[in-house]
Amino acid sequence: MHITTASERISNDSSTKSPNSFMSEDIVYLMPTDGQDNDRIHSQHWALKLALGGNYDAPVKEMLEDGANVLDSGCGPGTWSMEMSETYPQSKFHGIDVAEVFPQQIKPKNCNFKLVDLTAPPLPYADDTFDYIHQRLLFAALGDQHWDSLIPELHRLVKPGGWVEMQETDDVVVNAGPSTHLCMEHIFEIARGRGANTAVGRSLKSRIADAGFVNISERIVDLPLNHGGKIGELFCDDMKQALTTLEAAILQRDPENWGDADIRKKHLDNFDTECTQNKTALRFRIVIGQKPSA
Ligand SMILES: C[S@@+](CC[C@H](N)C(=O)[O-])C[C@H]1O[C@@H](n2cnc3c(N)ncnc32)[C@H](O)[C@@H]1O
Repeated sequence: MHITTASERISNDSSTKSPNSFMSEDIVYLMPTDGQDNDRIHSQHWALKLALGGNYDAPVKEMLEDGANVLDSGCGPGTWSMEMSETYPQSKFHGIDVAEVFPQQIKPKNCNFKLVDLTAPPLPYADDTFDYIHQRLLFAALGDQHWDSLIPELHRLVKPGGWVEMQETDDVVVNAGPSTHLCMEHIFEIARGRGANTAVGRSLKSRIADAGFVNISERIVDLPLNHGGKIGELFCDDMKQALTTLEAAILQRDPENWGDADIRKKHLDNFDTECTQNKTALRFRIVIGQKPSA
């Protein structure tokens, strides 16, 4: 995989932020593949676990305790896979990602990682390989055409009777004040501009039904931003870090607001206060489905 720097990626970058490693132009996902963004994703994992009350919704606990074969699709730094590997030592966890952001050496024995591009099917596994497939937070990574080919591919890989689970944020921000709306739209618009379907969460139920999954259900959780204690603080920090990382791209889109340090600071400060006052939240959807038994 070719890695480009931020300055190659974002021409006319006049920000002072030092360049990070970003993925190549043919990949939709814009965020960098560096240690700092890995830290953000690690922290996001713990915040999500707290907010959702656990690491998964599918009824797979017994299966995992007995020993299941699990795919973590788009695993990032592998936080979910590694924690799950420790919790369920009888099971095997396979994390795949297009970038080598996962650990090579220091990981549980029942956990392995592999470079795989989800936009280039077929994925390198035989039919009916996995008891459970988990996929989380790819809303900024895949376009419509990729979702169209990926979901049937995941259906191919799940064993009859096995489960798929997808967890995605929505591009709906509940009770957003004006600066919050501006900031969040920057994140979503930049992803959309690269071809991502940021609203995919809303179509997951019908997409997995079309692919042949049954026993489908959806849980919607509004993730608090800067209210409701530690969880709200963590999600707010997560968004603010994403805004900092995307600073050069936002500057290009909105030089009027982002080119002036005082105005930019005003919006970022307002983001905090508006979220607390309005009880702003990011909509998150957890969709599960089962492959019919043969
Ligand atoms: C927001 S992170 C989510 C990581 C992990 N699922 C989690 O929830 O902790 C999105 C991940 O998708 C990966 N990704 C983006 N495009 C991809 C592609 N075409 N194939 C596989 N992974 C991809 C990125 O490298 C990144 O690690």
